[in-house]
Amino acid sequence: MTHPIAAPWHPVAPSAGLRPGVNIVAGFAEGQELALWRSADGAAQAWENRCPHRSVRFTLGQVVENRLACAYHGWQYAAGNGQCVGIPAHPAMPAPRNVCARVFGAVDAAGMVWVNLAHEGPMTASAPQALADAVPAGWHFCRTLTLRAGAQQVREALARHGFAAGAAPGAWRGTLGDTPTVALLLDAQPQLAFIHLWTETAPGSEAMKTLHAAARTLRGDIEPTET
Ligand code: FES
Repeated sequence: MTHPIAAPWHPVAPSAGLRPGVNIVAGFAEGQELALWRSADGAAQAWENRCPHRSVRFTLGQVVENRLACAYHGWQYAAGNGQCVGIPAHPAMPAPRNVCARVFGAVDAAGMVWVNLAHEGPMTASAPQALADAVPAGWHFCRTLTLRAGAQQVREALARHGFAAGAAPGAWRGTLGDTPTVALLLDAQPQLAFIHLWTETAPGSEAMKTLHAAARTLRGDIEPTET
């Protein structure tokens, strides 16, 4: 029997959204603001979204191969351990060894980037099997729903819609629009949650359109009605 894993892994973003050595994506997990990116060698990175120099958001910066460069003074930080490795204004000066970005554990599994806030520093282990099993092989990403609601509210709504919690953290299985679906719940902030929907239905199919409509209905059931 599979047991839920205890480690606080959060499904923060679809893996395909982070291109190696190219882009930075803003993310959240339990109120922690994150800069998500992928080094040129392919490894997913999840850093606190603040440069340790003067706290400018890393998401304003750019990826330079296996480094993240801050937008303000251009200091560069290495993938993996977040160590400052270059200061463009002082190219001859050795980078200060005590300046480090805050790095959280990040892994790719089941088409998602998962972040573990309890793990600081580079990952030395591969993804737990439960994460890899969160979405059946061959399923497709449908969409991410942004929900102005707390995670508990979302869990209750998913249960009302017949979803059941799976072995991976935040992974709920059920059907939406008569299509088997996995909803990966991300507790982003106290009143902000995301669910990443995965399904066996192929993109562009009629069933996928029905699923999108059902997802909108689900969101309407979760978010408070505007008055
Ligand atoms: S604030 Fe980032 S390099 Fe100065």
